[in-house]
Amino acid sequence: MLDLKRQYKPLHEELMAALGHVLETQQFILGEPVAAFEQAAARQLGVAHAIGCSSGTDALWLALAAAGIGPGMAVVTTPFSFFASVSAILRAGATAVLADIDPATFNLDPAAVEAVLDTKRGTAVRAILPVHLYGQCADFSPGFGRGRGLAIIEDAAQAWGAARDGVQAGGIGDAAAFSFYPTKNLSAAGDAGMVATNSDTIAERARMLRQHGMRRRYHHDEIGWNARMDGFQGAILQVKLRHIEAWNQARHNIARRYHALFHAAGLAETGPYPTHGIVLPHEVPGSRHVWHQYVIRTSRRDDLREHLTERKIGSEIYYPVPLHLQEALKPLGYKEGDFPEAERAAREVLALPIFPELREDEQQTVVRAIGEFLR
Ligand SMILES: Cc1ncc(COP(=O)(O)O)c(C=O)c1O
Repeated sequence: MLDLKRQYKPLHEELMAALGHVLETQQFILGEPVAAFEQAAARQLGVAHAIGCSSGTDALWLALAAAGIGPGMAVVTTPFSFFASVSAILRAGATAVLADIDPATFNLDPAAVEAVLDTKRGTAVRAILPVHLYGQCADFSPGFGRGRGLAIIEDAAQAWGAARDGVQAGGIGDAAAFSFYPTKNLSAAGDAGMVATNSDTIAERARMLRQHGMRRRYHHDEIGWNARMDGFQGAILQVKLRHIEAWNQARHNIARRYHALFHAAGLAETGPYPTHGIVLPHEVPGSRHVWHQYVIRTSRRDDLREHLTERKIGSEIYYPVPLHLQEALKPLGYKEGDFPEAERAAREVLALPIFPELREDEQQTVVRAIGEFLR
């Protein structure tokens, strides 16, 4: 599914030198390595501020809290994401209101959000948290929130370098959260994350909250948390930032090749729902997909996965249980049937191997194995 050693090998010298510098300077937490990464990251994303932190989960919480989301408020998000998209809202003290997804992109559907805003649950909503799932930006223009007096907090954990209408993920909403979990397109060597924003106020507040609410040493203005980034992670991310454009381009080429191979094998169906073949991922015109995952839909998903596993081909299900049906989120008060698109996607999606160093012969093996299964 993913071979991280192929990325590491050519970077070995550069990474060792960067780690050695941290050891020489003993700047293990924040400090120069993290500040230098933040500056380079902000420049690359085209945003005013980047605030490095301890994980994508903490970045989500920091972005929400710094944007003033707290008790008595609600945030609308998707039921089809990683757990942290909702748990961070709850951790900020707010409640989560869910709306269904668009079956073509798997992203939060703006029409479903509109409908929820018109209900009783919608009255406490102060923000929308769209997730740029699989590396493709959700359809929330900067104007969508502002026109309704709502903040937009992007969950850009999977979307470094993605863009919509010429604006990169991270600069679309009021604030955004990135994850540098080791499997992400831009990855650390451990846990790390980042908040991006164009707002001076949100940036200042996020910096304060990631250090226990301190503006002045040992003077605590608010209850923050320890959500700091390590120097080693800052140093590694600085190195990888120089390569991420090429890696995202390689992912794009791999996705193109999958498309071509599936079409040539006669396996691709037009979506959004599969019948006997597979539905290939949909790329929204005018957007830049960075292919964090290449996700197909198929009606016999579990059997296909077993067939691939028997042939030692990796695959993964992101995500098998929609968030409204998670045990821990029962208190939100949703039930089966509330979000039919998310529930159906959870039964049909299958992520295939995609990473910059994946070879053409390996892709051919994947496509051939799927063809054998479907015939
Ligand atoms: C959509 C999404 N949101 C949030 C997170 C949380 O990031 P992290 O694992 O760095 O805490 C992840 C990654 O795992 C993710 O994929």
